[in-house]
Amino acid sequence: MASDLLKAYCKELKLGNVPRVYDQFEFQDRHQYLTAVLGAELEMRRQNRIKRLLKKASFINLKTLEDFDFQTVTVPESTSVAALTDLLFLEKKQNVLMLGAVGTGKTHLATALGVKACLQGTSVRFFRAVDLANTLLEKHKNDTLARYMRELRRCELLILDEVGFVPLHRDGAELFFNVIADCYERRSVIVTSNLEFGQWTSVFGDTRLTAALVDRLVHHAHILAFTGESYRLRRALAGTGQNKLELTTA
Ligand SMILES: Nc1ncnc2c1ncn2[C@@H]1O[C@H](COP(=O)(O)OP(=O)(O)OP(=O)(O)O)[C@@H](O)[C@H]1O
Ligand SMILES: [Mg+2]
Repeated sequence: MASDLLKAYCKELKLGNVPRVYDQFEFQDRHQYLTAVLGAELEMRRQNRIKRLLKKASFINLKTLEDFDFQTVTVPESTSVAALTDLLFLEKKQNVLMLGAVGTGKTHLATALGVKACLQGTSVRFFRAVDLANTLLEKHKNDTLARYMRELRRCELLILDEVGFVPLHRDGAELFFNVIADCYERRSVIVTSNLEFGQWTSVFGDTRLTAALVDRLVHHAHILAFTGESYRLRRALAGTGQNKLELTTA
């Protein structure tokens, strides 16, 4: 049991874990013992920081690179699977754009790269595009946008998922553009979309704004094409003898 004095010293020195772990180490000599106790304190801090980063990132589902199959992803010559999964794009403040049909693993890979970045101590924020646009609109209305933009600037990797499913409100699209422009050459952005760039005007409305946004995103970017069939559909149809779902409109 740690004495009150030891607890007080540790508290003042912000060594909160030491009173909990100091008696779990064998004492061989002073140097070895102190190193072990301080090492445990550091490791605990590292783990707590990772937990905080993962929470702050707000991933919708946690996914890992270990269970991602790259077979149906076309990786451009500018990078490689190894360079991507080693997160080299982060150091260079490059972007990763993931384009492809529904259910082909874009969100999985974007999340898994984000989770790995958190495990390495990088601050990450994950948003569905429409959610970010709505949040920006709300902050704008409440006069708290400047503060929110400062908060976003503190992250080193911004993940914007599902650009394309839902058209953005005009003001929301402008605010969204400001976020992208703010990241340009300062921090990495991962974007996933089921639309090719040529169709992005349908999301952002304005042709000039869309062109300026795409221009900033693709400069210093690796563009990955997800070419497979929907994993969801394949799983749902497994064992049914079908390999396609015919969708009809009433
Ligand atoms: N290449 C893959 N390796 C392992 N799992 C995959 C792969 N692709 C997809 N999955 C799994 O299939 C499901 C759908 O994938 P995901 O949500 O990433 O697709 P998506 O491309 O983001 O689709 P959408 O465009 O509809 O958002 C997830 O459960 C995911 O883990
Ligand atoms: Mg997705």
